Amino acid sequence: MTEKKATDEQIMAALAKHNGIRTMAAAELKLSERGLLRRLAAMRGAGLEVRGTTYQNRNPPPTADFEFTPLPDDDIPIEQLIEQRKRKFTHKREHEEASKLIPIRIKIGGPIGLLHFGDPHVDDDGCDIEAIERHTALVNATEGLFACNVGDTTNNWTGRLARLYADQTTSAAQAWRIAEWFVNRCRWLYMIGGNHDLWSGSGDPLKWIAKQQNSLYKSSEARIALRFPNGAEVRVNARHDHSGSSIWNPAHGPMKAALMGTRDHIYVAGHKHESAYSVLKDPIQGITMHAIKVASYKVYDRYAKERGFRDNSLSPCALTVIDPSLQHDHPDMVKVFWEPEVGADYLRWLRSR
Ligand SMILES: [Fe+2]
Ligand SMILES: [Fe+2]
Repeated sequence: MTEKKATDEQIMAALAKHNGIRTMAAAELKLSERGLLRRLAAMRGAGLEVRGTTYQNRNPPPTADFEFTPLPDDDIPIEQLIEQRKRKFTHKREHEEASKLIPIRIKIGGPIGLLHFGDPHVDDDGCDIEAIERHTALVNATEGLFACNVGDTTNNWTGRLARLYADQTTSAAQAWRIAEWFVNRCRWLYMIGGNHDLWSGSGDPLKWIAKQQNSLYKSSEARIALRFPNGAEVRVNARHDHSGSSIWNPAHGPMKAALMGTRDHIYVAGHKHESAYSVLKDPIQGITMHAIKVASYKVYDRYAKERGFRDNSLSPCALTVIDPSLQHDHPDMVKVFWEPEVGADYLRWLRSR
């Protein structure tokens, strides 16, 4: 078709068909683009309303010179992705709801003891590994005594802090060997991941070590309901750290959790490497609430020395003895000891009565 042979109607139809894209309209009309422009100018001069381009380059025109097959998407279809997200949320909800209060059924009758190990940092040169050996042996030797870990099992230096391996004589590989030795020395009622442990991210090796031992491992926190054979319940609210601090009261964090959060019998935290203890009563239930902070087996701490932290450690751990035979509001249902051997003696005496 020559420039003159294309009618005004044909030009208008071709422009409408190709969304105003002049190159495509010209190709259909077998006109040069310049020829089409001249015709459009003439049509406008004659008073015709010629549509402008709405070209948005969403679908580049196929050319005769080349073509390609679009690549398949590198992800699953959106419908499957949404289904996956729903399943993931369902699992997450089930886990989070079940974690709000984790029941642990105590099978052994009579009083029990919980030995709350302070931050172990087992690979640190300043860690009292002999005390760890003694205290884990005590757990194994004492009927009704269970071990609990509030986190920071190893130094686990990562990222920029990995340079700190230069300041200790254990390697990262040795650190995990010691951690495995430590965890396998006794049975843990629960283990919590501290900030040092969580630096491993979702691949935290402690999670797998604890799994092998069939122990409860939770990152950062665990709220547990100990259910005794006689029907008594004692709740333990353990966190690597309870938020809040006070220069006047080292037990401020767990006390705040007891006063402003859930009302449980035992609050225990580590992280700050200091011992602290305060006792409170819940006026509603009448229970006695023990707010405890355990220090650390990392007895000699370069960081604490550098920063000038005062020595606030009574013991690297604390032992709580629970007598489920007492009324739920009896003030002596839970007793706190700083020397685990003394606490174990009390537990043995209580169980022998
Ligand atoms: Fe910590
Ligand atoms: Fe720590």
